[in-house]
Formats: sequence, structure tokens, C-alpha cells
Amino acid sequence: MKKNKKNQKKGEALWGGRFLEETSRLMRDFSQSVLFDARLYEHDIRGSIAHARMLKKIGVLNAKELRAIEKGLAEIRAEIVAGDFCWSLDREDVHMNIEAELILRTPHGAKLHTGRSRNDQVATDVRLWMKEEIVAGQALLRGVQRALLDWAYRDGTVLLPGYTHMQRAQPVCLAHHLLAYIEMLDRDMGRLQDCFERVNVCPLGSGAIAGSTLPLDRAFVAKELGFIDRNGRPRITANSMDAVSDRDFIVEYLSAAALVAVHLSRMAEDYILWSSAEFNFIRIGDAFTTGSSLMPQKKNPDAAELVRGKSGRVVGNLVGMLVLLKGLPMTYNRDLQEDKERLFDTADTLRGTLSVLAEMIQTIRVNRPACALAVSDPLLLATDLADALVRRGVPFRDAHHHVGKAVALAEQLGKPLTDLTDSEWESVGGGLSGVSDILNEPLEKRMDARKMYGAPNGNAVRAAMKYWTKRLKD
Ligand code: ARG
Repeated sequence: MKKNKKNQKKGEALWGGRFLEETSRLMRDFSQSVLFDARLYEHDIRGSIAHARMLKKIGVLNAKELRAIEKGLAEIRAEIVAGDFCWSLDREDVHMNIEAELILRTPHGAKLHTGRSRNDQVATDVRLWMKEEIVAGQALLRGVQRALLDWAYRDGTVLLPGYTHMQRAQPVCLAHHLLAYIEMLDRDMGRLQDCFERVNVCPLGSGAIAGSTLPLDRAFVAKELGFIDRNGRPRITANSMDAVSDRDFIVEYLSAAALVAVHLSRMAEDYILWSSAEFNFIRIGDAFTTGSSLMPQKKNPDAAELVRGKSGRVVGNLVGMLVLLKGLPMTYNRDLQEDKERLFDTADTLRGTLSVLAEMIQTIRVNRPACALAVSDPLLLATDLADALVRRGVPFRDAHHHVGKAVALAEQLGKPLTDLTDSEWESVGGGLSGVSDILNEPLEKRMDARKMYGAPNGNAVRAAMKYWTKRLKD
């Protein structure tokens, strides 16, 4: 970041009027935020243009002054984009860097801050920035959902053991597993959308704490900036103290993002386990794995591990933000400046994680024989056996007990359940010998026996895939 030599003299701060002594350098470095909030420049300039247009509308600026301000801001924007803008630590933050530079370009710039405080300005900038970030995040979330659905089309009929407590439980098809994450991510989409609705409210015009004695037209500004509802009506904050002091909308975003990160982390953990030699269900493509500097044979699922690992900082950002807010008296306090690094870090991490995962999923190849071998474990159908007894009128608790006995017997004899003889089935009681045949049925038939909505029978899974194909089309 370039420093502005023109402006490092005493008394240069825009608030410098009542100060006799210079700010300490230590204080300057400690309190500046421009090194991280400069990325709000576009939204800050947009906010300033809207504010200036409103000032013209209410007669504070004339047409010539407005033109000069808009021209100056456009030039500053172009300089920033080109990387030529000289950011100054002495000017603290993005707001004062841009305003001070504007005033150097046009004396009319000195009228821009009329009726405005950095307190409502920063809240406005962040909300504008977040609206775009939420939409971008949602698009990337959709990308992961699509990658999961494509995978379901490639390999969804593959059957594999489903696990509870990390112990083999019941068979499921891969599509059902993948669709589970599509559902989770869709609730995340909804949470981000809810958050968007509350971010989409304009605080500008709240001033430092109590509005302004000037007749600011808040609705006009809100419309200019796109803070509008579905019917095009402006959405503006209702209480100036609330508007400048709360960051609950950031907490909501960080919380929705933390849940996304946790979902992605769990997903990554599944793939890490499945790609181990112990499971061997999948191979992750070379493009998203790395080798070991020492062990020549290693192929490590680093991308998935980092997705899992980075969820930690996203959760941390949420906790950090809540702690930041909890003791703050009304209204604005400089502590609030600490909100932005949490926010930016979560947004950047989320973007990176979602992008990598969507690409990585496309490189995953399923080891069908390994899945077939694992899912052929007859114990996965122990519950089906108990259900079969229930159909014959045996109370479930008894059925559970009889099947449990059969499992114990097979374990004792050191053979699979399917190798029990008729007399051994007889010996555990409950009439199991009459139903034990279902262990030899094709697994697909067992899956189709689970007919209810939400269960992994072939029809339901195909219907769910069709539904998501439509939902994820645009
Ligand atoms: N950089 C500040 C922030 O991020 C902007 C608002 C500062 N307001 C003030 N009165 N010092 O919160």
C-alpha cells in the first residue's frame, strides 16, 4: 500500500480542529484500519455519491458542486482500481482517505460530510459490501450442491455401509449420503438469505448517534443505494442509536457462515476417512492432494483437511465477534472497528473453501469393489431381520432380542450371519429361520423395502435427484 507524502503533516486529520498536539505514531499505527478496510472503497464511494445527490436534492449542494464531487470520487475510484491511489495511515481509515483526497481535488468536497458521521457511513459501507458478499457466497454454495448432485448422477447407485457411532449400521446408496449434504447446504442458503434481508436496511442519515438537524432525505439515499424491498420501497433503519451501534447483522452472517463451514468440515471428514486405506471407498484426484516430503508413497487429502481445519477460524470469528459486542455501552465505540477483520476473514475463507470443495468433488472416483465388499456385510441387515419378524406379529423388542442372539451366536462360531444353519437359526428362537432368507436377497430389493418418504429407496432417491436437478438449474 502506497503512502501519501502530501499528507503527513501536523494537523492534517479531518477531525484535527480541537487538537493542539500531534497524534503519536504509535497511536496512529495502533488505531488505523485502512490497511484492512481499504477494500470497502467501492462501497464507500457509492455511499458518498448517493449522499451527495441527496444533499443536492435538499439544497445543500448546487449542481456544480455535486458535479465536482462526483467527478472527484470517480477519479479516486479509477486511481484505486489502477493501484495508483496513495493510502495514508495518518488518515486512519478508508472513509477519511477518500474524503481527504476529494477535498484536495475540489474544495466542494468539504461539503460532502454534511449531516454524516463515519458511524453511519461505516455501517452503510459494510452493509453494502455484505449484500454482495452474501450473494456471491450463495452462488458458491450452489456450486458445491451441483458438484454433489453431479457425483450422485455418476455414482449414486453404489451401495455402501451407513455408519452411526462410526460403526456399520445399515446400507445406503451413495446418492442418499450426498443428498443429505445438499439438504444441509440448502438450509445454509436459507439462513444466508434471512441474513441478507436484515442486512438490506440503510443506516445512513443516523449521523453519529442522533440523526441531523438538517432535512436529510433518508429514503432517497436508501433507494439510490439499492436498500429496497421487493416492491422497490426503501428500507431504512428505524432508530439512529441502534443503527450506529449494533452489528447483529454481522453476527448473523458469521453464524450462518460458521454453520456452512461446519457442514463443509463434516463433509471433508467423510472424504478423508473414505480415502484412507482402511475404508478405500474413494480416491481424490491428484490435483487436490499432496505428497509427503519424506514418505514417497503418501498421497494426502490436504484440500479436504484444510476445509476441515479452516472451519475453526470461521467458528472463532463468530465467537470473537460476540465477545467484541457483549460489553459495549450504547452507542458507537471504537471497538467496533474490530468487526471488519472477523467479517473479511470469514467471507474470504468461505469463498476459498466452497470453491476448492466444488472442484475437488469433481475429481473423486469411487472404488466400487471396495464399497461392494463393505456393504456385503450381512450384519447391516440385522434390523431388516427384526422388521421381518415384526411383520409376522413378533413384538419388536422380542424380535430385536432374537436377532441379537443370532448375531452373538455367529460371532461365537466365528462365521458370518449368512452361514448360520437352519438349526442354528432355530436355536435362537423367534422363528428367525423362516425369515433369514432376506439376507440373501439382492441389496437393491432391501433398499426398496424402505418405502417411506425420506428413506433411501430407489424411487425416492431418483425423485430427490430429479427435484434437485430442477432446483439447482438456475
Ligand atoms: N474505522 C472506523 C470503524 O471501522 C470508522 C468509524 C470511526 N468513527 C469514529 N467516530 N472514530 O469503525
